[in-house]
Amino acid sequence: MSNNAEDLRKPILPGKGASDYERYLHTDELLALQKAADQLSHPDEMTFLVVHQSSELVMKGAAFDLERALHCIETDDYNNAARLIRRCNMMLDFPISILHVLETITPYDYHVIRAGLGHGSGLDSPGFLSLLHVAPRLGQTLLDRIHHAGLTVDQVYRHHDQHFGLHDVAERLLDFDERMQLFRFHHLKLAERIIGGRVVGTMGTPVEVLHQRMEHLMYKDLWAVRNQITADANARMQAGDKAS
Ligand code: HEM
Repeated sequence: MSNNAEDLRKPILPGKGASDYERYLHTDELLALQKAADQLSHPDEMTFLVVHQSSELVMKGAAFDLERALHCIETDDYNNAARLIRRCNMMLDFPISILHVLETITPYDYHVIRAGLGHGSGLDSPGFLSLLHVAPRLGQTLLDRIHHAGLTVDQVYRHHDQHFGLHDVAERLLDFDERMQLFRFHHLKLAERIIGGRVVGTMGTPVEVLHQRMEHLMYKDLWAVRNQITADANARMQAGDKAS
């Protein structure tokens, strides 16, 4: 091995990890954030911990990019807004799909883990709360830009080729809304499977409340425009039938 190749193996970044990979990513600290094996209330608690922690990280990343997307919408940079929201939606596929991993914990075993959660509840999830915090501002800012351009949502959809940027952002926000509903749907099914549908959670919230939240739409105007488009198309068809 040449001297040069040897040098490349040595870390040059500051920090205490053995390699630059570990130093840059702070893997020592990150991997110390789970209980040691002998501290686990149940061996499945490791899965419970890493699923939650990794979901929090990914939701943090998604919310960060949604804040950037918000700034792009405010400055009429719709291409980058759509690109960032698309990325966020791809990231959210992770916490949605990894929920299913927890379905492999049996209800009996889960209660061993749950006994150590105190009042800990997903209602206090920083990642999910930051998504809920940015979501309405994204929707309102898009509507403001549409109105500022002298348009209505219906016109943006009707002439989507002329208003491609606004239409693209609107559709990506709809994808985001759908992701939030999908998370809530799969999370509800997980809760029903593990603790049941007619009980209260660790914070005293009945599981039925999760069902009500699942039906919440963030961007009502964007969903409603489709009803209007279909109603208009039906009216045109009926008018055509009468004319013929
Ligand atoms: C065994 C697995 C799980 C069970 C049994 C469960 C159960 C529950 C329950 C009963 C609630 C209602 C609030 C309360 O605790 O009183 C809740 C809320 C919540 N949980 Fe979980 N959960 C599980 C896993 C997860 C995971 C992996 C995440 C991902 C971070 C998560 C995120 C949330 C969020 C964000 C809420 C608030 C929901 C909303 O605003 O609609 N949960 N969970």
